[in-house]
Amino acid sequence: MGKSNSACMDMQVMRIAPQNGGSLLSPQKLYIAMVGLPARGKTTIAGKLKENLERDGIRTRIFNNGQLRRQLSPDTAYPEFYDPENRAGVAFREKIALTNISRAQRFIQGDGRVAILDATNVSFKRRAKIRNLITPQPILFIECINNDERTLRASIERKVTLPEFGHLSQDAAVRSFIERIRYYESIYSSLETEENFVKLDSLNNQILREQISVDIPFYDRIRDCLVTDIIRNLYLIRHGETYFNLENRIGGDSGLTKNGEEQAEQLARYFDRISVPIIFTSKKKRTVQTAMPIQERQKDCAIIPIEEFNEIDSGICECMSYEEIREQMPEVYHSRKVDKYNYIYPGGEGYVSMKERVDRGIKKALFLSSNSRNIMIIGHRAVNRMILSHFLYRRMEDVPYIYVPQDKFYHIVATQDKKLFQLKRYAE
Ligand code: F6P
Repeated sequence: MGKSNSACMDMQVMRIAPQNGGSLLSPQKLYIAMVGLPARGKTTIAGKLKENLERDGIRTRIFNNGQLRRQLSPDTAYPEFYDPENRAGVAFREKIALTNISRAQRFIQGDGRVAILDATNVSFKRRAKIRNLITPQPILFIECINNDERTLRASIERKVTLPEFGHLSQDAAVRSFIERIRYYESIYSSLETEENFVKLDSLNNQILREQISVDIPFYDRIRDCLVTDIIRNLYLIRHGETYFNLENRIGGDSGLTKNGEEQAEQLARYFDRISVPIIFTSKKKRTVQTAMPIQERQKDCAIIPIEEFNEIDSGICECMSYEEIREQMPEVYHSRKVDKYNYIYPGGEGYVSMKERVDRGIKKALFLSSNSRNIMIIGHRAVNRMILSHFLYRRMEDVPYIYVPQDKFYHIVATQDKKLFQLKRYAE
């Protein structure tokens, strides 16, 4: 599972007091302030921390400025509201920030242990205000950084499904959100002089830099949580039967057969009582067609096609059957048989060269799935083998032979304290 301590690239940890998990006399308390441009995964990280801390009875609450803003004034989605020159907008956002800070203080003065201020907090001025109001309690700033254009775009596309963008077309809403981000960029100052901070690559769960100058309660477990991929319920499914499957042909972009459509219906019925808010597919027809009946039967479900989950590119062999390859390109057929993992199709890919992009797809899917308890990936035979081996260690040479049937799916759970892999039958 993705623990990337080795990924700590620029570490400056200065602890001046020994760390302990709690004291009998006065329970340790902590404020965490998230920092980052919109759509960088702050709320996801905040939710992940809360879940992790609460599992051990550490009372944690998130104070989210965006949520409060939408409650108080739903009509604040237009970009100029975020213009630092817009006095009324600035005053309103300031009021929201102060309200949440004082709610967090009341929580901490009571029996709360960790208060998470979930907001952009990108300006130095705002952070100074938080520090002044909260001192002498320790504050840990966590800055979420993700500049991967494609993930960002997909993340924005999800954000604009919020009701506050309901009056705009998708394109107009995306443009408006991007403009909002520009305003935040104009006042952005990255963490540098704060006493205690972590800069996190929130797409790859990597700590880019950390600086800890006082005793931060629960720091080790917070850090551990930040660098760990958490998969609550991942349903890993292969698309239904296609016309190419019937002829044993590989690659291409064939559609589902009648039987494949029936498999998709059976899957949809199987998941009737399991909520699936997001289905990631590849960009290929067969995976999207398999997802559609599931989406239809769910209450609120988005299909997000990700090109990183496309099937292995078999280059010059695309659309051929295994028999045709054996007859017409025996050298390809035999070389692949000898070392299937490392063999790369001429003009295409091999398992070995797919790994990087599939891992990237997994990171992207986890980033976009926010705090959804259940996510589904509908992929292909080779891609699903790679996804499975990301979570469940398999010897390299065994990966291309992992069983990936079309009438069953893998249910995967991989959290800090639980790992589960089950092959389940959905076909009736
Ligand atoms: O279903 C067929 C398929 O998904 C092909 O598109 C792909 O090339 C193949 O399976 C991958 O399986 P293998 O690596 O065993 O050939």
